[in-house]
Amino acid sequence: MAKYKIPRGTYDILPSESYKWQYVQNTFRKVARLYNFKEIVTPIFESSDLFERSVGDSSDIVEKEMYKFNDKKGRTFALRPEGTASVVRSVVENNLDLDANSTKLYYMGPMFRYDRPQKGRYRQFYQYGVEYFGSDNALIDAQTIALADTFLRQLGLKNYKLEINSIGNATCAKDYDSALINFFKPHFNELCSDCQRRLEKNPKRVLDCKNKTCKSIAKEAPSMLDYLDEECSTHFENLQKYLTQMKIDFVVNPTIVRGLDYYTKTAFEFIDSNLGAQSTLIGGGRYDGLVKQIGGRDVAGIGFAGGFERLLLSLEAEEIKIPNNDKPDVYLVTLGEKAETISAELLMKLRADNISTEFHPDKKTMKAQMKAANRSDARFVILLGDNEIEQNKFNLKNMETGEQELVDFQEMVRIIFQ
Ligand code: HAM
Repeated sequence: MAKYKIPRGTYDILPSESYKWQYVQNTFRKVARLYNFKEIVTPIFESSDLFERSVGDSSDIVEKEMYKFNDKKGRTFALRPEGTASVVRSVVENNLDLDANSTKLYYMGPMFRYDRPQKGRYRQFYQYGVEYFGSDNALIDAQTIALADTFLRQLGLKNYKLEINSIGNATCAKDYDSALINFFKPHFNELCSDCQRRLEKNPKRVLDCKNKTCKSIAKEAPSMLDYLDEECSTHFENLQKYLTQMKIDFVVNPTIVRGLDYYTKTAFEFIDSNLGAQSTLIGGGRYDGLVKQIGGRDVAGIGFAGGFERLLLSLEAEEIKIPNNDKPDVYLVTLGEKAETISAELLMKLRADNISTEFHPDKKTMKAQMKAANRSDARFVILLGDNEIEQNKFNLKNMETGEQELVDFQEMVRIIFQ
């Protein structure tokens, strides 16, 4: 038995699976580029205060799930539980909001939350996300949602739903919070202990509770949409108008509150009901006060993030085959000492021509080498023995069709690239 085990809630991406990760990551990069977003990379740890102030100290993420630690000088850091706070920190620190080419940002990387692991929920998970700064126009909300939708479509996914809501601005949120407190108060003793606390600190979070009793009480709770002021309801109507114009299907779900404190106005989720309990593929929304709150100018923002793990589960559920480009182009099979000596130079030449090659250093027989070539999934096999060397040619076998040709080096390169 192995002496060391991987930490609970984490996983290895093994070589047999890594091509799938490369594929979803490359597709995300491609789609982000389509919308002219630029990549930003931030550290995986930040001052824990950054998350406490932005994600919110009444959120589960900060209250229960943060990996917090002190460094050797006693400073308190946290492994990032999400990406938005770090990106906002960087925007403020580097004045990115003043550079028109740096206001549309995307990122990918590991995030950390100490939660109970289950299918689709991990303690270290890999997020992709975007953040868009500088405009509070509802067209930008629609564009951000469209980017997420384009990404899911390009992967071939179909069985997901977009749900949208508006959670208002600070003023209407306050009125709504009072309405919620009044509604839940008579049920206080029936609520779970978490919700009893939430009702005081952040009543909207009660709507998000998974507890059965809390859920059934929350069903009758007042709707946020009835508390929106004119600015927020116009914004929400405009968003729906643009989404309709863009032919992006959506449903309005007034119970979406999102588990993070920084949201204003638009909140949205892409849900895949095939995924069971962890069905949110992508979550996002607007956060117009956040940049200012973190010490920057009064700059609007909106974004989303999703986990690659759930995405891969969705692809599996919809039986979408992910192309595996992570195979060698060529497997070199040598027969005899002369061929083995020449192979060192030949491998260099093939790679210099951008041909990915493999060979076996220790298997000598043709049968053993062909078996290894088959297992490698290479598209071609080059057979090199005394005969070929004499004629200064190569025996090239197409492993898909079984066709075999005796060709010179240039011709061989041409066929491989065809
Ligand atoms: P979030 O809803 O906390 O939002 O997470 C976004 C997505 O990350 C989830 O929908 C899910 O796909 C994935 N995710 C979250 N936690 C886990 C986990 N423990 N295991 C696996 N996947 C997970 C945010 O993080 C916000 N920063 C999104 C955002 C960006 N809002 C505006 N900009």
